[in-house]
Amino acid sequence: MNIESMQFASRFNGISGSAIREIFKLLAVPGMISFAGGNPSLSALPDEQCAELARELLLDKGKILLQYGATEGYAPLRESLVPYLKDRFSFDCKADEILPVTGSTQAMDLLCKALIDPGDKVVVENPTFLGNMQAIRLYQAELVPVDSDDDGIKVDELEEVFKKEHPKMLYIIPTFQNPTGRTLSLERRKKIAALASQYGVVVAEDDPYRDLRYTGRELPSIKSFDSEGWVAFMGSFSKVISPGLRVGFLAANPALLRKCVIGKQSSDVHTANLSQAIVDAYLRRNLLMPHVEEICKSYAQQMNTMLGLLAKCGGVARYTKPEGGLFIFAELNEGMNALNLLMKCVDKGVAYVPGTHFYPGGGHENTFRLNFSMCTVEQIEKGMELMNEVFSENL
Ligand SMILES: Cc1ncc(COP(=O)(O)O)c(C=O)c1O
Repeated sequence: MNIESMQFASRFNGISGSAIREIFKLLAVPGMISFAGGNPSLSALPDEQCAELARELLLDKGKILLQYGATEGYAPLRESLVPYLKDRFSFDCKADEILPVTGSTQAMDLLCKALIDPGDKVVVENPTFLGNMQAIRLYQAELVPVDSDDDGIKVDELEEVFKKEHPKMLYIIPTFQNPTGRTLSLERRKKIAALASQYGVVVAEDDPYRDLRYTGRELPSIKSFDSEGWVAFMGSFSKVISPGLRVGFLAANPALLRKCVIGKQSSDVHTANLSQAIVDAYLRRNLLMPHVEEICKSYAQQMNTMLGLLAKCGGVARYTKPEGGLFIFAELNEGMNALNLLMKCVDKGVAYVPGTHFYPGGGHENTFRLNFSMCTVEQIEKGMELMNEVFSENL
């Protein structure tokens, strides 16, 4: 049989893989200044500390860590997550209500596996994180976008959608959102928790950027206002320790968590023990927050440099002013097209991600996302100068 006759599952219909990954292929040119990624800076990755911890942990508990572990997770990590969640995210939960996962990407996949049937509706912010939008699509859900403003998703519109569309789930990134960098206000966090239980909608709260705050005041999680268990909270150590360790966690009500454990059994059996033990050591030995404080210093400087230059950049009509995270979202003058201009920018040696990819329904061609964590201040200055040239020539 000709290999082209292979029949793929219908869940892949219309799914072409991440557009961002395609853009990354364009960026392999030496000297390219990339504002396109979302990775931590190389200098923020604690390789030496991880090497020391890994050696110590393997010498101490190697036979446990190198053996299969429990799907439910490495018990010490589950325990050390309890005070971390209380301290950083303001909610109480027990160790057995937490599931360590292989990056919070897996938490989203497991929630979809546990909850979504083909044709179910999932509400997302408009725009939202491409990776999880793809996960939702692979479970054949219908995405229902709700617009956001500077205070995050518009809750009045959200309530209308809950009433009319009866969605199964709301996927939301409340802090330093990807791609906008915006943070959901306190009032809206409370309101969303209330709406979830009023309408019986599961909230998948995805908060990987929270610890990367450079200014302003911390807000409690949506989950901290959830008394009935409708909010499932997803966290990650990718942005604050290392994405390569692949450690995140899901905190959810016991019934939902149990389904996710069953889903995980056939996915990867468990998250790598050594990675879980390294993250556990970061939490237990209070290594995390000093590390975060250190990396926030340079990220703040990088973000402020970019914001300052955006204010002077030709063609840029408006842009978000995040208090933390890794992204700024900008809009070009009406009629300008960030998708077409990307190639001109790449030719000059600078890249970003066109915003259209983050909108479930496309459009918004004049928007684009900028990342500042991967570039030095000097590279940001140079890259913004090149972007300014391209945009100013194409007004
Ligand atoms: C909003 C959001 N959620 C989740 C993730 C994935 O995190 P992890 O590495 O923990 O899978 C990312 C990564 O870019 C993200 O931006």
